[in-house]
Amino acid sequence: MDQGQLLSYLSFRSVEFVREGRRILDGVTFGVERGETLVLLGRSGSGKTTALRLINRMLQSTGGSIWLDGQDISRMDPIQLRRSIGYVIQDFGLLPHWTVEENVSLVPRLQAWPTEKQRRRTQELLEQVGLSSENLGLRSPHELSGGQKQRVAVARALAADPKLLLFDEPFGALDPVTRHEMQQQFLDLRRKYNLASVFVTHDLLEALLIGTRIAVLNAGKVEAIVTPDEFRHLDTPVARSFLETLPPALINQQDAVRP
Ligand SMILES: Nc1ncnc2c1ncn2[C@@H]1O[C@H](COP(=O)(O)OP(=O)(O)O)[C@@H](O)[C@H]1O
Ligand SMILES: [Mg+2]
Repeated sequence: MDQGQLLSYLSFRSVEFVREGRRILDGVTFGVERGETLVLLGRSGSGKTTALRLINRMLQSTGGSIWLDGQDISRMDPIQLRRSIGYVIQDFGLLPHWTVEENVSLVPRLQAWPTEKQRRRTQELLEQVGLSSENLGLRSPHELSGGQKQRVAVARALAADPKLLLFDEPFGALDPVTRHEMQQQFLDLRRKYNLASVFVTHDLLEALLIGTRIAVLNAGKVEAIVTPDEFRHLDTPVARSFLETLPPALINQQDAVRP
């Protein structure tokens, strides 16, 4: 049988991760298509970051399989795999001694793109994330605000035409207005590049806004995978505890928080 026919663009099939005898992820199965964002929603320690780190092979799963674009990632070269994935984390992960432009062009440079193509791509992306008019290209990361740093991190994640974006609580530390701008920008970028993405958050409003579907993680297991509209009727333990954090008016007017 051709397994490809059963696979989504990104597929988790019964993925397990056991460390020191502890089952940190247990039978996790989901699929993400191009243009889709699967939000992983769960409390701290539920295994969200572990799931992302398995995708770029910073960690190795101990059971099941993960497929990207028809390939079993355990058979891919980990370096090539990582370069094909844009990864954005809460504390930016920028290289402190490099300029903004050098940070953004990291992967194109590693892939030895022609210099002129690197330069054009870097300028295009800085414009895309709303930084071009500010002339920040030659600054160091420590000379930027938190919001600007995260824009640079997003530009870097997009630089080498990635197959997939992984965002791990990327906007959690930003002020609410900047966070809102970054969320809208994420939606624009998803539309423009038709990218598949996995987006980790423990913020329910963010999950409802960003996710095309939401996977609820509870102690390493997927409790449910639903659309944002279905989420408000979900009766699983973790979904209920998240819903209880919202004012009732917001739950009933959920469409008001969606784009
Ligand atoms: N390097 C590690 N060694 C041992 N246990 C870890 C390690 N990293 C994470 N864990 C454990 O794995 C579980 C899931 O962690 P994590 O994936 O970081 O959760 P989340 O991102 O949802 O907060 C937690 O119980 C955590 O303590
Ligand atoms: Mg985490």
